[in-house]
Amino acid sequence: MSARESIISAAIFDLDGVIVDTAKYHYLAWKKLANEIGTDLSVEENERLKGVSRMDSLDIILSLGGLQFSEVEKVAMADKKNTWFVDYVNQMKPDEILPGAKNLLESCRANGIKVALGSSSKNAKAVLDLLKIAHLFDVIVDGTMIKKSKPDPEIFLLGASLLNIPPDQCIVFEDAEAGVEAALAANMRCIGLGSPAQLGKANLVIPDLKNFTIEDMINLVPIH
Ligand code: BG6
Ligand code: MG
Repeated sequence: MSARESIISAAIFDLDGVIVDTAKYHYLAWKKLANEIGTDLSVEENERLKGVSRMDSLDIILSLGGLQFSEVEKVAMADKKNTWFVDYVNQMKPDEILPGAKNLLESCRANGIKVALGSSSKNAKAVLDLLKIAHLFDVIVDGTMIKKSKPDPEIFLLGASLLNIPPDQCIVFEDAEAGVEAALAANMRCIGLGSPAQLGKANLVIPDLKNFTIEDMINLVPIH
């Protein structure tokens, strides 16, 4: 490992399922749509949707159900799902920020580590504003700013470039298999939040951020 690879100057956080418990709302809204069009979506199948864009998620559901619709119909379905998702999110309270997340964001900043958001969601900025935590990010990259969603590395590379930090000095926190793949493809280190069976490619897999401190992160990779 070169000297440059052995330091961390920035942490890039996914949003849904890492900072806030919105992954469950994406699932509920997709399942409702799936049921409405005569198919279903299991918890296991939903893993494939995590981290991927709205339209790509719909395509996965349709392909699992062996269904085909026109582009116009698909846009209407995605809009409907989004309306339900936004309704759920609007009822969210700041205590739905996942345990340990805010603390880690604040300690990164206190220790001079740049902080970025790297979320495929077009609702990301609204969710951060609702939870009053947008100010904790130096840079916010969301689904409105990218052409290719995870597992493509575009989102994380854009975050690193806006922070002006080389990718190999970034560490990514992800709960989605597609997100772990995106981070590694960007030549970044990655901590997976969830099950090792799903996220085994990450450099480290932990259940959540509840007991994870900046000291743990520094022990894993020294900071600048
Ligand atoms: C990701 C979620 O963060 O954002 C996916 O993990 C979701 O489940 C994607 O499909 C896009 O979100 P949105 O809010 O733009 O529909
Ligand atoms: Mg996620």
